[in-house]
Amino acid sequence: MNWGMENRLARIIKPADKRAVMLAVDHGYFLGPTSGLEDPRQTIEPLIPHADSIMLTRGVLRTSVDPNFDKPVVLRVSGGASILKELSNEDITVSIDDCIRLNVSAMALSIFVGSEFEKETLVSLAKLVDEGEKYGIPVLAVTAVGKDMARDVRYLGLACRIAAELGAHIVKTYYCDEFEQLIESCPIPVIVAGGKKTPELEALELTYNSVKGGAVGVDMGRNIFQSDCPVGMIQAVRAIVHDNVSVKEAYKIYEGAKGASAKRAAG
Ligand code: 5RP
Repeated sequence: MNWGMENRLARIIKPADKRAVMLAVDHGYFLGPTSGLEDPRQTIEPLIPHADSIMLTRGVLRTSVDPNFDKPVVLRVSGGASILKELSNEDITVSIDDCIRLNVSAMALSIFVGSEFEKETLVSLAKLVDEGEKYGIPVLAVTAVGKDMARDVRYLGLACRIAAELGAHIVKTYYCDEFEQLIESCPIPVIVAGGKKTPELEALELTYNSVKGGAVGVDMGRNIFQSDCPVGMIQAVRAIVHDNVSVKEAYKIYEGAKGASAKRAAG
């Protein structure tokens, strides 16, 4: 048993219920100043208390997060491409030494199955796992599939299984039809990405279906920080993941927080 590895994983996936709420704010690494994240500190500060962990780049960690905060960091360590070019052309962008200095609880890297640089990203994953194993730092693989490939159980299931086979400790993917099949064929914990902004109710349904289907939780970004009430939204997501509330109950939490913040604004 690798005690450090187990301990770090337990900070991300809470041992009490084996569930996790991860706040994703790493979008700028290929999207630049994403809507809602223009000032990362302003976005992150009110949301951190409601997240179990936060996923971000080292640049935003250093510049926009108070080192006194007590939440595990999932550090994005892959990059090198922007939306203007071939997205799969990524490499490892952070050394293991810096991950240790920054006291990260996990390292996140994207794999692009079915894309031009599939092999390179898969080999990077394997190398990162080797480094992580040396120091007890888990690796979260983020699955992306080729541009022309459907985000369905066949391709996402393939990507998740490959991530697990190469040694990833957690895999992040998208929710899809027949999601339970993906879970059954993946021997490591699966966390679901929120995806593009949708109406709040839909994002809560996605959260509910993901955990019901066997995911440990969600790693959600835009559906939280681009919401008209980000704090209400993360509270609602958290209630589904950790308190097993229904979508209807969660939506009430979001609406309640939205109403309260409108009242405060009105003075
Ligand atoms: C991008 C990522 C993002 O963290 C991920 O997509 C989650 O954010 P969102 O909920 O906005 O999709 O890994 O590669």
